[in-house]
Amino acid sequence: MAASIAEHGEDAFRKLFKQYKRRNPPPDFSEVINFSKPCKDKVFTCELNSAPIIEEDVSKAGLRPVKDWRAFGLHGYPGFIFICNPFLPGSQQYWVKQCLKIYPRKPNVCNLDMHMSSVETENIWEKSIDVIRRKGCGKGEPKTLLEKLRWVTLGYHYDWNSKTYSPDHYTPFPKELHSLSHKVAAACGFPGFNAEAGILNYYRSDSSLGIHVDESELDHTRPLLSFSFGQTAVFLLGGTKREDRPTAMFMNSGDIMVMSGPSRLLYHAVPCIVSAPAGNMLPPCLGQRLETEVQDDDIIQSVSEEDWDVCSWYLQTSRVNVTVRQVLASGQTFPDSQASHLSTDSCEKSEEGKNKKRKSESGYERDT
Ligand code: OGA
Ligand code: MN
Repeated sequence: MAASIAEHGEDAFRKLFKQYKRRNPPPDFSEVINFSKPCKDKVFTCELNSAPIIEEDVSKAGLRPVKDWRAFGLHGYPGFIFICNPFLPGSQQYWVKQCLKIYPRKPNVCNLDMHMSSVETENIWEKSIDVIRRKGCGKGEPKTLLEKLRWVTLGYHYDWNSKTYSPDHYTPFPKELHSLSHKVAAACGFPGFNAEAGILNYYRSDSSLGIHVDESELDHTRPLLSFSFGQTAVFLLGGTKREDRPTAMFMNSGDIMVMSGPSRLLYHAVPCIVSAPAGNMLPPCLGQRLETEVQDDDIIQSVSEEDWDVCSWYLQTSRVNVTVRQVLASGQTFPDSQASHLSTDSCEKSEEGKNKKRKSESGYERDT
């Protein structure tokens, strides 16, 4: 294998990544798995566990009853589960608003903090909507902070340079996202999942996310959950080695991916965003409104029309991905010296000679 990399100058993962990232001529998407119309030789139906889930409870988080979720596995990837948009009509709007308006707020950390003062990065939403509403965001206008947002970290804030989490850099994990994650993990066979860290990725239509493995968490027996909203992405799931040829799949708005068991530590990447054709800019599932009134004890709340106007404007050309991680096993604590040598995250973030400042700004290696 090593010889073949030397021969061809790049590994199978990088080759496919570059193929899907290419703009001219546009890539051929015919091999990309579409779980909404799954092909039987690669995909199988996955039975989820609705027993520990109280159906009323999942609906409070904006999810359909678990028995109605369309969940799939992929042959050759044990532990990988793909759930096709299990959200109730209208409920994605709440999660989108949290990602754009609430989660970028202090004390959470975002890429803009790396080169701006905390006064400047306070109220990203408020500062941006002012501009958006006043003069619109036509071409040639300076970008709003919202458009410059690339990542936000929650809970144990991931340190992009040392590739570690630290007990010294923790702020409370959003309880509604904890609750959503707890329910999804339980349905997938992981009761008691404790969301402790989140990385939100904000993709513009020309963004990509480099090839990496998420291994900085100290407990790898817990799954990694990934929620997608907005424009469709191509996701590449590889093997434990860069020479393993990855499988490409579409991730649409509302889709949830669970990487667990042997799939927890596989290479993966997002080579491109597949923007909707003009005139059809938001996936229909995002345009829906809630069918029932929210109750006081619901987790999700309705989104005001003026907030949704901004969210839908943003998502016409963007994708938001939320990854939720449990960092420690239950009862586990950080080792005394949570030093940088503890983790050797295989993320490609450090490739191509990027300096530390640049890496922190961009999070995972990405082009935007
Ligand atoms: C991550 C990640 C994938 C995505 O944040 O670790 O792999 O779909 N995200 O954006
Ligand atoms: Mn990842």
